[in-house]
Amino acid sequence: MKRVDDFRLKLGEHELVPIMIGGMGVDISAPALALEGARLGGIAHISDAMVPTVSDRRFQTRFVSEKAKLYKYNAANSDKSKVLFDLGRLAEATQNHVGHTMQAKRGNGLIFINCMEKLTMNAPRETLRVRLCSALDAGIDGITLSAGLHLGSFALIEDHPRFRHAKLGIIVSSLRALQLFLRKSARVKRLPDYIIVEGPLAGGHLGFGMDWAQYDLRAITGEIVQYLQAEKLAIPLIPAGGIFTGSDAVSYLESGAAAVQVATRFTVTRECGLPDAIKQEYFKAAEDDIEVNMISPTGYPMRMLKGSPAIGAGIRPNCEAYGYLLDGSGNCAYITAYNREVAAHPGAKKVVVADKTCLCTHMRNFDCWTCGHYAYRLKDTSTRLADGSYRLLSAEHVFRDYQFSSDGRVALPE
Ligand SMILES: Cc1cc2nc3c(=O)[nH]c(=O)nc-3n(C[C@H](O)[C@H](O)[C@H](O)COP(=O)(O)O)c2cc1C
Repeated sequence: MKRVDDFRLKLGEHELVPIMIGGMGVDISAPALALEGARLGGIAHISDAMVPTVSDRRFQTRFVSEKAKLYKYNAANSDKSKVLFDLGRLAEATQNHVGHTMQAKRGNGLIFINCMEKLTMNAPRETLRVRLCSALDAGIDGITLSAGLHLGSFALIEDHPRFRHAKLGIIVSSLRALQLFLRKSARVKRLPDYIIVEGPLAGGHLGFGMDWAQYDLRAITGEIVQYLQAEKLAIPLIPAGGIFTGSDAVSYLESGAAAVQVATRFTVTRECGLPDAIKQEYFKAAEDDIEVNMISPTGYPMRMLKGSPAIGAGIRPNCEAYGYLLDGSGNCAYITAYNREVAAHPGAKKVVVADKTCLCTHMRNFDCWTCGHYAYRLKDTSTRLADGSYRLLSAEHVFRDYQFSSDGRVALPE
């Protein structure tokens, strides 16, 4: 019976434990978690979502209050087209976040940053270029392009001195999306160093419609393995979404995957950025407590716990402070939904917005409890304390359980 440890991921000159901890925004895949993944010889992500906010929380910078102050005059205006990020400050925030993480890195593993194209930040190209370039400047080992097709992303950074040396990869959910990306990346003569295939059981946003349940990670992975073989492209393939045990991982490694990307099992570790009380919500979740809905303003379905405070909340948009989902013309689907409800309930102190959520504020406050499909199995990965709460796990425990377990078993903490 094989274990994950019987395999290695070769990425250029690196030989790694084939476990990748996925990016979890906003700061759920915190530096402490990524550092453990790298120390243990795998690859782990930090997230590039809302980095100015994350830097303020961690380094006592004032990026958010400065921006909010600058645009205070616009708060009551539903047109947010003037609310722009200062690109210099954005670069500074990214360098803080990435630089401090990379300085603290130990061990043979790698730390990548997850970069979502859907964070359009009211100036999609310019802000994405700054985020990618400043992460490279700050020494990140690699960048995973996510939440979008990223057809122009390689071209944005092709002049960066590390463009051909840093590891660059993409998350896709279909062969078609991969083919489009490869066609574009051929123009800058640069293939991705790895491809993550994310299936319908993942956490965060899904690269499918609400018919997600009709898709199957094994089938999509198999199709892409065949395509890469036919095209003689030796790019490591990394499936993600619903890989819950070491044995699940081995079954993918035995059928052509180079590594696996996992996330949900790390949400209940001490190193994960979620507050401890929310980790208990993840532990307690039953299958019925999880849903896939369309409340994200990005237009992608998202999986989350039904108890998330973000669902149905009708808070005032705070784009002057945040504004990460503004599309480049000052619009966000939440602003439209919020204004509709305010107009429909004149004089009401509070409104309920059922169809969309203010993702910036709620993700920033850890009020949107996104999770993978198998979050309801987390309770089987730990033991309970005398007060009935679940024992938090160490990232090392979960990592090593993936690496060394067999027979579909999950090791409980000592
Ligand atoms: C709490 C949480 C937040 C996530 N946030 C992001 C994100 O910001 N960007 C992204 O590309 N994927 C995100 N994901 C997806 C993961 O990186 C990963 O690919 C997927 O969840 C793996 O499946 P698993 O959770 O079943 O192991 C998130 C997943 C979770 C559980």
